[in-house]
Amino acid sequence: MIDHVASMRQAAEVLPADVFAYFAAGAGAERTLEGQEQAWDDLLLRPRVLRDVSATSSATQVLGHPVAAPVLVAPTAAHRLAHPDAEVAVARATKAAGSLLVLSMRASSRVEEVATAAGPFWQQLYVLQDRGVTDEIARRAAAAGARALVVTVDTPRVARKRVGFPASFPGTGIIEALDHRDIADPRLMQAEDVSPHDLERLAGTSGLPLVAKGVLTAEAARACVAAGASAVIVSTHGGRQLDGVVPAPFALPEVAEAVGGDVEVYVDGGVRTGSHVLKALALGARAVLVGRPVIWALASEGSEGVRRLLTEMTSDVEEALALAGCTSCADVGPDLVRWQNARYSRPGV
Ligand SMILES: Cc1cc2nc3c(=O)[nH]c(=O)nc-3n(C[C@H](O)[C@H](O)[C@H](O)COP(=O)(O)O)c2cc1C
Repeated sequence: MIDHVASMRQAAEVLPADVFAYFAAGAGAERTLEGQEQAWDDLLLRPRVLRDVSATSSATQVLGHPVAAPVLVAPTAAHRLAHPDAEVAVARATKAAGSLLVLSMRASSRVEEVATAAGPFWQQLYVLQDRGVTDEIARRAAAAGARALVVTVDTPRVARKRVGFPASFPGTGIIEALDHRDIADPRLMQAEDVSPHDLERLAGTSGLPLVAKGVLTAEAARACVAAGASAVIVSTHGGRQLDGVVPAPFALPEVAEAVGGDVEVYVDGGVRTGSHVLKALALGARAVLVGRPVIWALASEGSEGVRRLLTEMTSDVEEALALAGCTSCADVGPDLVRWQNARYSRPGV
């Protein structure tokens, strides 16, 4: 079992204070950040009994790629701030643990370099004001071996946070990925006029399946799927974008109901334990992504720490499945959960 609080404290000890604060922060008054783990805890499990779970496996597939457990690495920026081996260390660990890396567009390593250490990986993208540069990143990621493009749709601008960028913030992804173009160039910032046409264009440019990250409603999910998304990620961006949005586990059922029959649905934000993962599957997700725990592990123990985190989470999921009377991820159903908190209860959940 991973002690996430201890792991975060350890990272706080090894990282400069402004770097730790940058990774830990949420947007606005941090209400979404504060509540995100509690929302998973507010959901209670209803285990099945008298089932043969002697051959339980946590293995599954995401967009056809086999993974050891339905736990993927979320795209997070600037890993070099946490450890000199940066995204390459995370890619190596993710491969060793049989998971899948979503590489941030704001990564501090070049995609070609990460690709040499990675197993199957997906490239996250923001649509930038300069669409030409956006398309160039998509094409480069595809050429480097990315298997999907994860287009983040919840960031028409970066939300203000109580802390700014750390003094040592590297030029990050844009500079690394694009041969040292000027990060201060506003055309390299997130576009405020992203539309379904951008998703359609990116699918064509890259030839890769698209995953839309950052949907919290049925309407948003339907719009992304209509624009060609092969999967959606229910996400509050780890509480770093609009503060006060619905917690991911509450948004998940309506998204799964709206598009889950047509595309894969994933979820992130405060997912920390095997039982959180089980709850996510019961609400209709195919997999979860984890963000900050990977950064804390990387900061304290480098690649080996990340490998251990992911391996432990796989064991946690396998145990939760067996204890709930399930032998596989596909075996999990909505009967396994109920809300304890009236705030979130809705018919059928
Ligand atoms: C420091 C940090 C940087 C992030 N950078 C990105 C990013 O570049 N692109 C993106 O789509 N999401 C980004 N995210 C959001 C994560 O992909 C993910 O949605 C979130 O971290 C999940 O919540 P968790 O940290 O509670 O697991 C970032 C999150 C953090 C904490």
